[in-house]
Amino acid sequence: DLIINDYRHPPPMEDMEKVERNSHTFMISPLKYDRSRSYVEPIPVNYASGYIDRWDANYVRMPCSPCYTTNNTQPPWQMIRQELIQLKKKCDAKLATFEDLKATIIKCAGDNYDIYCLEVLITSVYSNMQRAQFMTTILSNMCDLALNVDTLCSRPPALLRIGMNRSVTMSQRQAASLLACAFFSLFPYRSDREPNDEYKNFQDPNFIKLYQYGPSQKIEKLRCILHYFQRITERMPNGVITFQRFSLPESEHPNWSKSKAPLSHIHLTMSDKIEDISCALQVEFANKYIGGGVLGAGCVQEEIRFCICPEMLVSLLICEKMEPNECIFLIGCERYSSYRSYADSFRFDGNYEDKVAKDNWGRKWCHVVAMDAMYFADPSLQYDMQHVDRDLLKAYTSFYPQDTKKEDDAYFGIVTGSWGCGAFNGDREWKAIIQLMAASAVGRSLIYASYLDKKLVNSFFAVYQYLSGQKARVRDLYRYLERYCTQTNQRESIFEFILKTPISSLKS
Ligand code: AR6
Repeated sequence: DLIINDYRHPPPMEDMEKVERNSHTFMISPLKYDRSRSYVEPIPVNYASGYIDRWDANYVRMPCSPCYTTNNTQPPWQMIRQELIQLKKKCDAKLATFEDLKATIIKCAGDNYDIYCLEVLITSVYSNMQRAQFMTTILSNMCDLALNVDTLCSRPPALLRIGMNRSVTMSQRQAASLLACAFFSLFPYRSDREPNDEYKNFQDPNFIKLYQYGPSQKIEKLRCILHYFQRITERMPNGVITFQRFSLPESEHPNWSKSKAPLSHIHLTMSDKIEDISCALQVEFANKYIGGGVLGAGCVQEEIRFCICPEMLVSLLICEKMEPNECIFLIGCERYSSYRSYADSFRFDGNYEDKVAKDNWGRKWCHVVAMDAMYFADPSLQYDMQHVDRDLLKAYTSFYPQDTKKEDDAYFGIVTGSWGCGAFNGDREWKAIIQLMAASAVGRSLIYASYLDKKLVNSFFAVYQYLSGQKARVRDLYRYLERYCTQTNQRESIFEFILKTPISSLKS
């Protein structure tokens, strides 16, 4: 590791009671997390008055809503309840078979889907003991969580739509209940068979697609998710999580060619993965449709992160696609699984105990930002300042501090890596400069987890030292990029170009 600076904790947070309610939906009553009473469970908001429905374009359309109807004579929720109650009875009597589960899912999802991956996992991959445990206690608990979604959630979560600066905070139990509904594929109008314009910019949160025939990593991803259900069946976590959508207003967009901000401190590492570095804002290499291919065959950084921290999957339910000036924060989600390998060879690797401490809302001190890079079918297109500006804006928006800091304190750092440089075909050196500029512009340190890429660590360090030696500012880096783009010969890399070009020669 090349250690250049430390990074610090964020300032203490505001009390939950004081948070402005117009832009923050709380699905729980305000609480102050008390370490000495860490067993206290958050209470759903308006718990005493019962479920309050909202059936409009600003809220999740819930399977339990009285407004949810289909062409069938029986209201869907009544049918779903009957199915789940029946399945639960069989689970409790230790009589449930995989065929019973299959019949329930197919009935609830409303079509004759193939559920090959789920079937292989439960009937072939699981040992007899694992299967027995799943088909009794775990599945019974999942039925309960879905059946009680109306009491547990007490109101539908708000949607985080394009252009909104808005947050939703819920308990881990409420997230579990929503995820149990997704497991049985209960959310209306989201699947392909119901093309509905209302959700054209949303992901389908129902898990049904993950069950369909596909490569072996789908089965491993499912293993991670079912491991989460096992863990919450053994002991329901009583913490809190927040999803926050941030849209950077036009007035805040930086002028890169004029920015005099000095370079941030950086810390380079190749031994740790992003999720292993705590006390910093962790970057999630996202798709504009948050979660990307997590419920399909995708299995790179974003999809893996969502499978080892399945509470993040709730974002698929509530977040509309991201625009270039938008990002989504996933705060407090717990990690449940270990994994090894990557992509096609990804494997669930057993339980993970997340030891991260909690903040004063009872959220795990784990802040993740989903930011989507540009996808380049032709990588040469990234050397175009229009595309550079787009990714700079995205990184700046995602790094933009969300908390006010005390005068002499530092913002907490950002841990990132080769954002946009895998599935999205970006150039690692190019993206390192873009992210360094964005972090510098907001005055936050950058921890670069290059994921086994020793060459990048060494070359980035050399470039950083060269730039610091010349007291480079953000605008100088912008000039390097501009100059590089206008060159006809792009055979040398941006780092090579910087190392042979003194800043003083850029101005002419
Ligand atoms: N920690 C640090 N670096 C990592 C980690 C990790 N845990 N995992 C991967 N890398 P990629 P993208 C490195 O391809 O190009 C998804 O489908 C590794 O070197 O996930 O922005 C999304 O939904 C890898 O090659 O990000 C999007 O659709 C590089 O980071 C799309 O992929 C880039 O990881 C985003 O693709």
